[in-house]
Amino acid sequence: MSQKIVLGYSGGLDTTVMIKWLSEKYDAKIVTVTVDVGQREDLNEIEERAYHAGAQKHVSFDCKKEFYEDYVKKAIKANALYQGEYPLSTALARPLIAKKLVQVAREEGADAVAHGCTGKGNDQIRFEVSIKALDPKLRVYAPVRDWGLTRDAEIEYAKKKGLNINPKSKVYSVDQNLWGRSIEGGVLEDLSQAVPKDALEWVVPLEETPDEPAFVTVKFKQGVPVALNDLTDGVQIVRFLNTLAGKHGFGLVDHVEDRVVGIKSREVYEVPAALALIKAHRELEKLTLNTHQLRLKPFLEAEWARLVYSGLWFDPLRENLDAFIESTQKAVEGEVELKLFKGSCSVVSRKSPNSLYKLSLATYSSESSFDQSLAKGFTEIWGLPTILSTLKVDGA
Ligand code: ARG
Repeated sequence: MSQKIVLGYSGGLDTTVMIKWLSEKYDAKIVTVTVDVGQREDLNEIEERAYHAGAQKHVSFDCKKEFYEDYVKKAIKANALYQGEYPLSTALARPLIAKKLVQVAREEGADAVAHGCTGKGNDQIRFEVSIKALDPKLRVYAPVRDWGLTRDAEIEYAKKKGLNINPKSKVYSVDQNLWGRSIEGGVLEDLSQAVPKDALEWVVPLEETPDEPAFVTVKFKQGVPVALNDLTDGVQIVRFLNTLAGKHGFGLVDHVEDRVVGIKSREVYEVPAALALIKAHRELEKLTLNTHQLRLKPFLEAEWARLVYSGLWFDPLRENLDAFIESTQKAVEGEVELKLFKGSCSVVSRKSPNSLYKLSLATYSSESSFDQSLAKGFTEIWGLPTILSTLKVDGA
């Protein structure tokens, strides 16, 4: 009996070639799955290409809302930045895509799931660990990695089989969704080269940004955005900010990143909304969390980001960390006004009904209610261990 394989299908060269290749090699029926996580691609065109290449069935999911609700919101509450820079846009979408692949595999009674990742990146790990965590019985095929397919060989094969491949010649490897755009490869591999203009689509070069700043106010409740201007839908808020902040040249990350497989690589990201929202969220946390909470949370945030980056979304530790993070967010409510101008995003004002900032304590004016006489004894006791140690060193 011929087997059935569910293939995560982007519509690109690798996965288009894989439809034919897998069906010939395994005498298999191929069910292709495309998940819309806000990549802004023509799903009908992708579907057509899948059928043309020989898919028995194609399924598309509109998961923009699910992506925002179940993944992006958690990342905002966690101020998630891998190695302090990367908002995890690609990494966050992979477990959701894996979930849909497993769902279709079950509905279709498929034996295996296939993906188009190489053996050098993080995405193979994210897909495979997630698929196996959700259904350990499913086999996973990774032809690009395991059969060593090269781009040239793929193009030749596609021509021979008359496949309808995406005509755009590919200079970079790009992955994009609602939360960001990741760009790798090509001239970016040369660390001495600045990011060329042709790599960017969301962030406008500084020379071309408006000479007037833009101001936006983001309203948060329980740690997540609930309004921006007249927008209240999360997906729309993110989209709007990607466009506006990007237009002002904000949101570019160009850094050398440590991949899970040990490789250091130069990664470029266009992530205007992610960076702006995390900045605003952090600002509100400064007002509404106390000093002890603010000291511990970043350690756990870094763990959260590392876990998600490394493909371990379905590890129980992620839920443990989420439970802690969630418990810090009750009071994170209020408004932050951001100024976007010439590549920068700065906080110009903030307010919260739960603010721990008390003017009567902070003020240097005569209105102060802070009792300075208490500070004298406190300072002596606070410094005691340090002073004792100095005395000991001196042999006194
Ligand atoms: N380095 C990033 C990550 O691991 C981006 C990966 C982008 N993927 C791609 N196919 N271009 O999440």
